[in-house]
Amino acid sequence: MSESTYIHGTSEDEQARLSRMNDVLLNPSSLRELALRGDERILDFGSGLGQFSRAMARAVPQGMVIGIERSGEQLATARRLAAAAGEANLVEFRQGDVLNLDLGDEAGTFDVAHTRFLLEHLPDPLRVVRAMVNAVRPGGRIILADDDHDVLRLWPEPPGMYDLWRAYMRTYDRIGNDPYIGRRLVQLLHEAGAQPVRNTWIFFGGCAGMEIFDTLSRNMAGVVRTARETILEMSLFDATHFDEVMRQYEVWRARPDAALWFAMAYAEGRRC
Ligand SMILES: C[S@@+](CC[C@H](N)C(=O)[O-])C[C@H]1O[C@@H](n2cnc3c(N)ncnc32)[C@H](O)[C@@H]1O
Repeated sequence: MSESTYIHGTSEDEQARLSRMNDVLLNPSSLRELALRGDERILDFGSGLGQFSRAMARAVPQGMVIGIERSGEQLATARRLAAAAGEANLVEFRQGDVLNLDLGDEAGTFDVAHTRFLLEHLPDPLRVVRAMVNAVRPGGRIILADDDHDVLRLWPEPPGMYDLWRAYMRTYDRIGNDPYIGRRLVQLLHEAGAQPVRNTWIFFGGCAGMEIFDTLSRNMAGVVRTARETILEMSLFDATHFDEVMRQYEVWRARPDAALWFAMAYAEGRRC
C-alpha cells in the first residue's frame, strides 16, 4: 500500500482538538528543540492546520516557511486560521502529496525539512524521509517528530483504557502503518542517507491540579474517540464496551489523583 490513510478525519471537533494541543502544549516545546537561527528556509511536510508552520515562520523573520498538505479541507482551514490571525502571508501553504513530491528547482535548497505527526500515518515513511533529505542543501537539517504510542501511562489505571488503547494501536498496523514509529526515527534518518545527530523526546503529560490537565486528558479522549468508527469497523472492540470505557475515562479525568504521561519522539539528522 503506498497511500496514506488519516483515520482521525477533519471534523471541526478534531481540528479544534489539534489546535488546542498545538497552542498550549506542543508548539512551544517543539520550537525550543528546533532552536532556529532566524534566517532558515523551511519545508514542513504534512503541515495540517499550519499552526506549527506559522510558529516556525514567526521564528525565522529573515527566512521563510512552505507547508505541504494533501487535504484540501486542512489547507482551507489552515489558510482561514492564518488570515484570522493576521498572518495570511506568513507561510506559503501548498497542496501536495509528500509521497509524490516534485520540488523541481527548489530541491536541495532548504535549510530545514520538518515533519511532525505525519510518518505514523504512512505505510512507507522512508519514502518521505528520503524526500526530506532531497529537499535540503548539504548540511541542512532533517527533523522528524512523531508518536510511539506504547509510552502512554495513566494512573490510577482507568478501567479498560489500556485495552482500548491497544485496539487503537492495532488500527495502525491493520492499515499498514506503524504505531511505534517514534522509536524508528533515527533509523529512518540513517536509512534515508542522512547523518543522525540528535535523539530526544518531548514530554507532554501532567496531572490533576495542573491547568493543562483538562486539555491534555481531553486530547487523549479525542484521539481515541475520533478513531471509534475505524476501531469498530475493524472489529477490534465492541461498541458498548467502547462507550463504557470512555465513560469510565471521563470519571477518571475528574479524579484528584489522575496522572498521565505521554511523549513525542524527536530526532534530527543532517544531509551529508
Ligand atoms: C496529525 S496532522 C499533523 C499536522 C502538523 N504537522 C502538526 O504537527 O500539527 C497530519 C497531517 O498530514 C496530512 N497528510 C497525511 N498524508 C499526507 C500526504 N501523503 N501528503 C501530505 N499530507 C499528508 C494529513 O492530511 C494531516 O493534515
